[in-house]
Amino acid sequence: MKKRLVLLGIAALAVSVMLTGCGGKQQAKADKVIQIGTNAEFPPFEFQEGNGEISGFDAELIREIGKAVGMDVQITHMGFDAIFEGIDRGKVDAGVAAITITEDRKKTVDFTEPYFDAKQYILVPEQSNIKSLKELKGKKIGVQSATTGEAIVQEAFGKTYEGLKGYDETPSAINDLQIGRLDAVVVDSAVVVEFKKKLGDGKFKIVEDPALPVEQYGIAVKKGNGEMLKKLNEGLKKVKENGTYDKIHNKYFGNNK
Ligand code: ARG
Repeated sequence: MKKRLVLLGIAALAVSVMLTGCGGKQQAKADKVIQIGTNAEFPPFEFQEGNGEISGFDAELIREIGKAVGMDVQITHMGFDAIFEGIDRGKVDAGVAAITITEDRKKTVDFTEPYFDAKQYILVPEQSNIKSLKELKGKKIGVQSATTGEAIVQEAFGKTYEGLKGYDETPSAINDLQIGRLDAVVVDSAVVVEFKKKLGDGKFKIVEDPALPVEQYGIAVKKGNGEMLKKLNEGLKKVKENGTYDKIHNKYFGNNK
């Protein structure tokens, strides 16, 4: 009788060790890699190198944030909209894509502390006399769909404004501006500066409308995922404190913040 009980005990122990062992392993694996969704068509924040590797300010920042909290980072390119869907469905842990923190988005995702300031700039041909967003009324305006650039144009001229053209990726809008299909493109400041450089001197100019609001970028996680949020905030704080953030910032934007 005693012997049987002991055997039973050993068997139970073995089973529980096996179970917790497996669970533990899975946990450790899931915990070690942070899956990141981005839309890598948004230089200098995220873009794909010739070999397909994703680099840019955001990409370097999130990799360093991962390092700071002892986690690997896997970045996947997807549509801008798909990032939010991916977060919602748990396909990715976080979105890092120059995502502006907005009240609307806060309904479905939680954001880390802000990590970058921006605003919408207007890119127009050099000879254009446009000085503000309002003056674009009646003109053809390109934006990336589902972005804050689209939102401010819709706010100014109505959701169904027929001059508004939404593109899946920002470079396609820039292309259409270049070939004269658009009168202007409205997109994030640092991105406009980057594209203007690429387009060459004397062809396009940047209009900064003082009436447009300042935006702040944050890393988005699924609403209620406090654990991931805490980790990312912790990493962000560390890279800001240890000079890594400044190093990456200087690499992409020079010394002037
Ligand atoms: N900051 C803008 C927004 O949040 C545009 C972001 C677009 N990002 C990108 N990777 N394409 O709506």
